[in-house]
Order: sequence, then C-alpha cells, then structure tokens
Amino acid sequence: MGGRSNSDVMLQHFGMLIHALLRGEPYFGPALATTQGPPVRKAYMRALVELLAHERPAMPVRVLEIGSWAGASAVTWAQAIRDFAGDGEVTCVDLWKPYFDLLINRSDVYLTMEKAAESGDIYRLFQHNIRAAGVEDLIDCIIGDSRQVLPTLCADEYDIIFIDGAHVYDIVSSDIANAKRLVRDGGIVCGDDLELTLAEVDQDRHRAALKVGADFALDVRTCKEYHPAVTQAVADEFPNLTNFEGLWAVRRQGETFKPVDLSASTLEIPTHLRAIEVNAPPGGRDGVVELLFSHKDFYILRHRDGYLAIAQKIGEVDASKELEQIRALYHADDVLIGGSIEYLIRRIGELTERDRRAAEVATRIELLAQAQQRLESQMTATAERAAVQVEAQQRLESRMTTMAERAAVQVEAQQRLESRMTTMTEQAAAQVEVRQRLEKELEISSQGLCTRMDNFAATLAEHQRAIDRGRRSFAYRCLWWLGFFRSAEK
Ligand SMILES: C[S@@+](CC[C@H](N)C(=O)[O-])C[C@H]1O[C@@H](n2cnc3c(N)ncnc32)[C@H](O)[C@@H]1O
Repeated sequence: MGGRSNSDVMLQHFGMLIHALLRGEPYFGPALATTQGPPVRKAYMRALVELLAHERPAMPVRVLEIGSWAGASAVTWAQAIRDFAGDGEVTCVDLWKPYFDLLINRSDVYLTMEKAAESGDIYRLFQHNIRAAGVEDLIDCIIGDSRQVLPTLCADEYDIIFIDGAHVYDIVSSDIANAKRLVRDGGIVCGDDLELTLAEVDQDRHRAALKVGADFALDVRTCKEYHPAVTQAVADEFPNLTNFEGLWAVRRQGETFKPVDLSASTLEIPTHLRAIEVNAPPGGRDGVVELLFSHKDFYILRHRDGYLAIAQKIGEVDASKELEQIRALYHADDVLIGGSIEYLIRRIGELTERDRRAAEVATRIELLAQAQQRLESQMTATAERAAVQVEAQQRLESRMTTMAERAAVQVEAQQRLESRMTTMTEQAAAQVEVRQRLEKELEISSQGLCTRMDNFAATLAEHQRAIDRGRRSFAYRCLWWLGFFRSAEK
C-alpha cells in the first residue's frame, strides 16, 4: 500500500482492462470509471428483482434502464433476472456520447468519462461486458437521449425502471415523469445516486449547487458529497421513498408511489463486481488474500479462511496472518471477520448506522449545549436587563414618593387655601348681606328723606306761598295805607 505514483496506478488499471479484454472477461474496474457507485447498491438492485420475481413466479421481469455506461448495472439486472425470474429483459437507453459540462464539472473523472464517451470506447466496453458476462441475449439497447426515447415507449410496460442517466435537474425530472407512465401497477421506479435526501442537506448551498448545475457537490452540513439534481428531483416527485444506501426506490400502487420493503430479500454483491480493485489496496500476500472491493469506509477482502472487512482509517494491515491472529490484533470495529460478504456488508451497515446514530446524538448534544449556552447568555442578559429595570423602578418609586410627598404638601396647602377661600367666601357673603341690608336701609332712609324733603319742600312752598300772600297783603295794605295817607294829605 502507498509508494505508487498516480500514473503507476493508472497503468495498472489499464493493464487490468486490457487483460480482461484479451481474456474475454468483463471489466468493471477503475479504468474509464466503469465502477459507477458502491457495489452494495447493486446488491439492492438484485434484491428488487428477487422481490418481484417471488411475488409473480414464472412471470418475466422487464427492466428499463436509463443510463448504462460500461454495463455494470445492466449486467446486474440481467444476472438477477436469470437468477430469480428465469425470464425477462433489460432495455438500456443511453446516449453513449459526452454529456458533462466540463466547465462546471472539473474533476478528473468527468474528463475521463468525456474522453471514453467521445472515442466510443465506453460503448465498445459496454458491448464487451454484456457479452463477456453472458447476458447479451437479455439486453436490448436504444441509443439516444432519454427525453426523446422514453415518450416513444409503451405505458405500463415495465416491472422495474432504473434512472441513472444525466444528473441535471430537468433531465432527472423528465426521466422520473416518463418512468411514472411506463412502470406497471405494482412495479418499481428506482434510481442511483441519492447519497443525501433534501432534508439532510444545507438548503442554501444546495440551491446554489442546483443553480450552477453541478453533477456532484459537497454538503457542508453532513460533510458528504452528493448529487444535488437527484436529491431535488426525487424529493419533488416522491416525498415517500426508500433509500437503500444511495439507491432510491418507490413502488407504484394505482396512482400513488409508496416505499419498497426489501426486508425479506437477500443482499448479495453481484459476482461481476466482487473483484473490483481499488487505488490503495491493503497489504497481503498473493494467494492468501484477495482484495475484492471497497464498501463505505472498509476494504472487503477474501481470505483463505473467510472474508475480512478492514476499516480504511487504520491503514496497512497484514491480512495474510491467520484470521484469529488478525482478530486478536485489532479492534473488533476496525477489522470484521465473517464467512460471507453479505454478513460483512450487514455488519458494516450496522456499524455505520451506530456511528451515524452516535454522530447524531453527539450533534444533538452539541446543539443542546449550544442552545443551553444561548439560553444562559440570554438569561444573563435578561437578568441584567431586569436589574437595570429594578434600579430604574426603584429610582421611579423614590421619585414617586417624593412627588407623593410634594403632592400631599400641595394638597394640604390647597386645603388650607380652600378653607381660607371658604372663609373669605363666607365673609364676602356676610359682607354682601350687610351691604344689601345697608343698601336697603339706605334706600328706605333715602325714601324717607325724600318724603321728608318733599314734605319740607311742600311746607316750604306753603310757607313761601303764605309769605307771598303775606307780602302781597302787606303790600296791598301798604298801598292802601299809602293811598290813605295821600288821600289824607290832600
Ligand atoms: C452514471 S452513468 C450510468 C452508470 C450505470 N447505470 C452503472 O451503474 O454502471 C450515466 C449514463 O447516462 C448516460 N446519459 C447521460 N445523459 C443521458 C440522456 N439525456 N439520455 C440517455 N442517457 C444519458 C451517459 O451516457 C452515461 O452512460
């Protein structure tokens, strides 16, 4: 393990490819990216065929596959049909032409696939593989774009429709829409590459990846890579599906699509995928151990006395020792030993599930701790605010007390004022009364004075008249006397 350069590894891969071609064996190794997804998904694909074949014995199983590449999945379907149903067919729809936008999808694998499709190598390898696997008679090819080919096929015709073509949202959606029409009632629509469901991914980054049209993206929430278009299109069409380690599946029931139950099926890696080499095989002596494939974070090896699953994280392991010696040297979770591949895959599934749960619990604990911290800091802030409020309230209360005291003083002053005003009002009323009495008395006395003055004036006038009369009579008398005296003088 280690020490080999990338070009050494590539040469070795192509050497194996040429070797397989020369010997007439199927090739599903790393060269030309023929592997396409973890082999365990193909074990679930076999299980789907087994399920339908057991439900309807002696009936052919018809599979429609959208996207075949080098034939790893097509051979899986065909072998499963032969093993479980006896009769059936696989219709493969594929462009076998370059289909990636290399400006968006920049990793080496896309360039490799582009070149393999452009040169026609991949179509030739597909034909070689189905022939070498002995399933050519079960496979029918339609070369073309799924969006043009699928509408020409008959409705309700297929038992299984497998969607693994382009991973662009519009094309996945179109393939799903067509599959819904083409699958028979009771049949299964499934597809590859659902590494993460919509609920699991970071929504903002997911929308951005979809917008760009990236085939593959890293989800920052789970730190896993996934196919954004598959995640979105599948979520849009089937809210209720089963996800078998990245192989999604639904079952048609009338007009609805329900999850698929595979609990009664066996899980077996197809034979043509059991010897997939990997870039960095663990150590081992030829003839004693054989590296079969990698699954999740484990290398699966065939040992002279059974099977081994070695966690990739523990690095180089001398797997050539006796199984019991290996068991004694490593932690039971890092090196799994069993009598069959299926057992190891199940154990890896259990460990992964346990780790996932532990990670979930750890995440939840972390979230809880964060929430608690937030709560505590909120509570501190609230307590501080409350203290400030209490202080403000105390200040307010003391101001209110002062104001109340001042108000009491003012009330007292007002009361004093009011009582003085009452007294003054009463005094004023008494004065008014006195004044009224005085006025009345004045009026009465002025009336009496007037009467007396009138009387006096009348008396005066009378006296005047009497005086006038006396004067006149005196005058008369004087005149008379004057006359008398004059006459007397004469
Ligand atoms: C991921 S590979 C399929 C892998 C294969 N199912 C397997 O498991 O080995 C995708 C395939 O889809 C094909 N493809 C891409 N776009 C397509 C389209 N619009 N119509 C039909 N096939 C398409 C590509 O040529 C390629 O072979």
